[in-house]
Amino acid sequence: MTTSAEPALPVPSAVVPAPPRVPRLLRLPGVYRPQEDTALLAAAIADLAIPPGARALDLCTGTGAQAIALARGGARSVLAVDLSRRALASARLNALVCQAAVRARRGDLTTAVRRGPFDVVVANPPYVPAPAEAVRATRGWDAGPDGRAVLDPLCAAASTLLRPGGTLLIVQSELSDVDKSWAALAARGLRVSVARRARIPFGPVLSGRTAFLEAAGLIAPGRRTEELVVLRADR
Ligand SMILES: C[S@@+](CC[C@H](N)C(=O)[O-])C[C@H]1O[C@@H](n2cnc3c(N)ncnc32)[C@H](O)[C@@H]1O
Repeated sequence: MTTSAEPALPVPSAVVPAPPRVPRLLRLPGVYRPQEDTALLAAAIADLAIPPGARALDLCTGTGAQAIALARGGARSVLAVDLSRRALASARLNALVCQAAVRARRGDLTTAVRRGPFDVVVANPPYVPAPAEAVRATRGWDAGPDGRAVLDPLCAAASTLLRPGGTLLIVQSELSDVDKSWAALAARGLRVSVARRARIPFGPVLSGRTAFLEAAGLIAPGRRTEELVVLRADR
């Protein structure tokens, strides 16, 4: 990855999966399986000093892994938002099992903005470049031809979502243009840095669309790894 400015926290990338910091979670059929990006974001949350009394948001919650990490990290209240009813049911169950105080609501970015602002916002949004529009089965990861269908509006709303002094963490792939997220967040007056990064082998989704990625110029021919990056933005 190249960034438009030098990252304030240069974190080395490694060709290994992110550390498995996610507890075993229940997952209804069709709900996103926690994987390397889940673990990388959870690790970045564990690095945060969440202020006492903090209001936190986990946008695109899936199984609720990040919402639970926020509650365990000391947030006073955690709102988990997702478009998928099955994801919300899974997140509620997992929060109950983990005894984490999490409210789960069906919705999207608009829902989150309406309920904000927050002291801490985290998101593992869909960010995989896709040749076709996302359908229900692929909505957990597919995000349009450049992978930015959710990232662009999220970055644009970041300063609205955050209270002064608040922190946002977003995980994404280098394939969906980390520089663009960095620039969009900085343009809204946020202080941007890299919290975590890891290089991982392509999983089944990317392995199944290498021809599209190569034709779109998103990867060099033969390349079969991607770098995941957690961007941090402080207001
Ligand atoms: C990559 S998964 C992340 C799940 C979980 N947070 C994790 O870290 O493992 C993305 C989730 O976003 C949800 N989603 C997709 N588009 C959304 C949108 N526009 N607003 C809210 N949630 C969305 C999907 O249903 C899916 O559960």
